[in-house]
Amino acid sequence: SSLQSTCTTAQQDAYSYEEYADIKWEELGFGLVPTDFMYVTKCFRGEGFVRGELNRYGNIELSPSAGILNYGQGLFEGLKAYRKEDGSGLLLFRPQENALRMQMGAERMCMPSPSVEQFVSAVKQTVLANKRWVPPPGKGALYLRPLLMGSGPVLGLAPSPEYTFLIYASPVGNYFKCTYGRREWLLHLGRILPASLYTEGVDPIHLLIGDGVHRATPGGTGDVKTVVNYAPVLKAQLQAKSKGFTEVLFLDSVNKRNLEEASSCNIFLVKGNVISTPATQGTILAGITRKSIIEIARDYGYEVEERIVSVDELIDADEVFCTGTAVVVAPVGSITYQHQRFEYKTGDQTVAQHLYRVITGIQMGLVEDKMGWTVEI
Ligand code: COI
Repeated sequence: SSLQSTCTTAQQDAYSYEEYADIKWEELGFGLVPTDFMYVTKCFRGEGFVRGELNRYGNIELSPSAGILNYGQGLFEGLKAYRKEDGSGLLLFRPQENALRMQMGAERMCMPSPSVEQFVSAVKQTVLANKRWVPPPGKGALYLRPLLMGSGPVLGLAPSPEYTFLIYASPVGNYFKCTYGRREWLLHLGRILPASLYTEGVDPIHLLIGDGVHRATPGGTGDVKTVVNYAPVLKAQLQAKSKGFTEVLFLDSVNKRNLEEASSCNIFLVKGNVISTPATQGTILAGITRKSIIEIARDYGYEVEERIVSVDELIDADEVFCTGTAVVVAPVGSITYQHQRFEYKTGDQTVAQHLYRVITGIQMGLVEDKMGWTVEI
């Protein structure tokens, strides 16, 4: 098969490893746990990506004038591999969607992109080579991080002459469990931060609506998973965290009244049987979890609206939740806007919890995959 023909001796080594890596699976958050191998391939201008290989995970060499370093010519993706409950195999969730989103983003960022087949095959190879790092059922997932970057030298602003497509992996647990140790935070910010920062597990998250800071503008790249969308929100994120909030929620940059997304996830409001989420019209990332939750919710009889959602609607929403590959479905306990705090229902009897159970059930092979979303490896 094509998988075997691209196997390197490095990958064959991996098969002789013990079944599970020796780490404390209960303690996984969303911090990097380096694994054994990464997939790497390159593409020169005008040519396709050559056959990739699995290399030992480690630092990569880049020209100081690489397009990614100088001008931010880069994209990333995120997807997860779960171990099935009965130990019979590994499941990926809609990897073709990540491949297609990378192709769309690559077009916007003037980069060549791998074919859907190459992308999915590369993901599978990366998972198999790092199989011992896929957490036991119920303990988390192996997070795959595909990167596409301009790796060749440029000086004047122009597309790079060479591109690298790389996938690395890390076992992960809950996204909002502290990913930074207390010590690192203290060193970073030079002062004491609220205890809430260190203790959040599966608890509800608390959002702060950023005032005067926007994530995306019409005509920009807000709907593209480019690296350049992320560093600009760090300052607002750190400020929100220093005040005890989990994340920042961004409003649109034109009317400054409409909800867009949090920097790492999409947002949904629940009112009765109606679930509303901001429509993706160029400034919002079209999340694969977002899209899947919309389909699941409709299938379970909820009415789902993709439309402009005003900040005013926060006042009388029953529930709010966020979705993303990394965060899955995260219940929102409160949103603070201009010193007003709105609180929402959380816990077992919520729509968010229902949708969380269904989507994670499908992802782990516990709930029937009617839509054919999972890919078994
Ligand atoms: C993901 O959810 O996979 C993402 O790429 C978001 C990232 C900020 C962790």
